[in-house]
Amino acid sequence: MKKFARIIGTGSYLPPKVVTNHDLEKTLDTNDEWIVARTGISERRIVEEEGTCDLAVEASNNALEMAGIDANELDLIILATTTPDKIFPATATMLQNQIGATCPAFDLQAVCAGFVFAMTTAQQYIENGGAKKVLVVGSETISRLVDQNDRSTAILFGDGAGAIVLSADDETGILHSKICSDGRYLSSLQVSNNRINELGFIQMSGNEVFKIAVNRLSNLAETTLQECDMTTEDLTWMVPHQANIRIITAVAKRIKLPMEKVVLTLDKHGNTSAASIPLALDVAVRDGRIKKGDKLMLEGIGGGFSWGGLLVEY
Ligand code: ACO
Repeated sequence: MKKFARIIGTGSYLPPKVVTNHDLEKTLDTNDEWIVARTGISERRIVEEEGTCDLAVEASNNALEMAGIDANELDLIILATTTPDKIFPATATMLQNQIGATCPAFDLQAVCAGFVFAMTTAQQYIENGGAKKVLVVGSETISRLVDQNDRSTAILFGDGAGAIVLSADDETGILHSKICSDGRYLSSLQVSNNRINELGFIQMSGNEVFKIAVNRLSNLAETTLQECDMTTEDLTWMVPHQANIRIITAVAKRIKLPMEKVVLTLDKHGNTSAASIPLALDVAVRDGRIKKGDKLMLEGIGGGFSWGGLLVEY
């Protein structure tokens, strides 16, 4: 019998230090009004001493608690991150040790699309019978890759982690997934270093990223709905990667989805890269917006470019 990968637990964690737009005004030639109007972001969380694994541990324990399972019942852990604590070992193996799991664990890197890529990978394991319970985590200390003197990027990014427990289910779960990459756009969005032992910061051509993101994400949403024989009206919620309110609004407009059906957390979280979708999902599950049986579209795009989407029955 076909198995589905069903979400049975969500969790998230934000580091305590809040950096508001007004805080940034003190060190950068910018202002709250500009940042809110151009991005939708009012504040973000920034790590002090915490590492990517520390954030992932908190989010994972919250998700495991909601799922009602113990870490030693997991068959696989996939951690999506652009900011591993070390080049090796994988941050996922540190997470495995700290939460008391014994299963295989690996990191996956697809920048802001990392969570969708990780969920799609986990889905394959579950549908093929290779795993019954999988922990999928997006965790980032992306502020470490941001030049805090560069106003074009320092206003956008924040740190955090989100986690999901997927379980093999006979009835429903992930209904559709698609991942895509187009490696021609290296210079549009990348870190500045060429070697792993050189310090690098995010460099971005904001306008180009903006146009490509809207285009690719709207096309993906339309194709996904067609392939599922659904229309926008069948969607209960869109949980997008939280990059910029204007990207999200433009995609919603293109697919004729009312903004009331979009889960937004970027005003408080900023762009947390691979963590943004599971963070937003957890917020909306815990505040009661997302309910059992809801049809969710999750989608995101990041450097590469890599992008992807999931259609999920919660
Ligand atoms: N504060 C105040 N003014 C600023 C700032 C700032 N932080 N940054 C730029 N400006 C000024 C510019 O100098 C320019 O001034 P001018 O008109 O006098 O020359 C003006 O604002 C407009 O600058 P643009 O760069 O054209 O601003 P834009 O409207 O494109 O907004 C932004 C910039 C917010 C980066 C936008 O391009 C964007 O969101 N792009 C998408 C990028 C993104 O989301 N990246 C995240 C990583 S990728 C991902 O997650 C999908």
